[in-house]
Amino acid sequence: MKIKAAVLRSMAHPAPYAQSRPLEITEVELDPPGPGEVLVRIKVAGLCHSDLSVITGDRPRGLPMVLGHESSAEVVEAGPGVNDLRPGDHVVTVFVPSCGCCAPCMRGRPALCEPGAAANAQGTLLSGEHRLHLDGEALNHHIGVSCFAEYAVISRRSCVKIMTDLTHREAALFGCAVLTGAGAVINRARVRAGDTTAVVGLGGVGLSALMACVANGARRVVAVDLSDEKLALARELGATHLINPRDTANTSDLLDAAGGRVDHAFDMAGAVPAFEAAYALTDRGGTTITSGLPNPSHAFKLPLSQMVGEEREIKGSYLGSGQPTVDITRYIDLYKAGRLPVNRLMGQTFMLDQVNEGFDHLASGNGLRDAIVLAD
Ligand SMILES: NC(=O)c1ccc[n+]([C@@H]2O[C@H](COP(=O)([O-])OP(=O)(O)OC[C@H]3O[C@@H](n4cnc5c(N)ncnc54)[C@H](O)[C@@H]3O)[C@@H](O)[C@H]2O)c1
Ligand SMILES: [Zn+2]
Ligand SMILES: [Zn+2]
Repeated sequence: MKIKAAVLRSMAHPAPYAQSRPLEITEVELDPPGPGEVLVRIKVAGLCHSDLSVITGDRPRGLPMVLGHESSAEVVEAGPGVNDLRPGDHVVTVFVPSCGCCAPCMRGRPALCEPGAAANAQGTLLSGEHRLHLDGEALNHHIGVSCFAEYAVISRRSCVKIMTDLTHREAALFGCAVLTGAGAVINRARVRAGDTTAVVGLGGVGLSALMACVANGARRVVAVDLSDEKLALARELGATHLINPRDTANTSDLLDAAGGRVDHAFDMAGAVPAFEAAYALTDRGGTTITSGLPNPSHAFKLPLSQMVGEEREIKGSYLGSGQPTVDITRYIDLYKAGRLPVNRLMGQTFMLDQVNEGFDHLASGNGLRDAIVLAD
């Protein structure tokens, strides 16, 4: 079938994107779902920094590609062998398809699924197939989803079925921002009541992490961002200490403003200075956790003797380090109970043909979780 989609043909376009227009809205061909796949109608697609990083070249991917990975959608057709989804069901897309039978999947770590990672790196679905074409040329899928489009064919393993009582605008948030941010806190750091925490970077991922720190009963929640508006929102969400790094000249200032070091410090910005701040904020015996995805060439110089003498830990967290099927369901339940107020993440909405303007807004650092609304 013919659908409208946002195609990226080359990286490193200059900003503003409203002028350089890296994403071309064009008609492409979408094949029917193969075995184990589903045709979905995309309702709302979130704008994540990981999409922006493909546009800037910080997260290089094979092109041309239909971008987008955070979305809420409605099932249109279940392909052969998919018996647990019906037309009209609501799903949230998940950006690592997990095969369920490789070694990491068997160890309960689907975020590390080997065939899933290989398919994402190749720009194919989990089946190894391309279902998107333009003028006879295959278009790559973005991490198994490609939701900046009216419809998508995705692996059954790239989505989680949800109840139909959330709006698609709410539901989309759970696909990446909430799954990643809350998961880093709940699954990877395992923050407990009374612990001390800091979150550096308050985008969709960082604010979700901050909400999870509050929900888990952290007694100190330090919020760090370059935007005073985001710090004000963090205060409303339960942050106890607010820091704009522009106001701190050195590490000693940073620690004073934070009320001292913390048990768990999160880099949710994806920038080396943000990781450095999170590492500086981590207490003796504490853990620095990062979900940030900066350019692969960017590195942090690790002070080894401090790591040993203070028994410090550093952890990466991908896809919220848990079981998306279980986690999305329980995070939605926490939201409905008012304990994870993720509706506060919602930023502006755009139409599909305004997607480049949307990325200018994300790049400005001022927006919350902006989204493309594709259908009611
Ligand atoms: N690990 C995963 O599974 C996963 C999933 C989604 C996104 N990500 C990555 O997480 C990061 C955050 O994503 P997002 O969509 O929330 O991004 P975003 O652009 O919406 O938010 C980033 C925030 O970090 C702030 N920031 C930047 N540099 C800072 C610094 N030095 N100190 C303090 N704050 C700083 C910005 O002001 C902004 O508010 C990105 O690197 C993204 O690629 C990872
Ligand atoms: Zn994302
Ligand atoms: Zn697997």
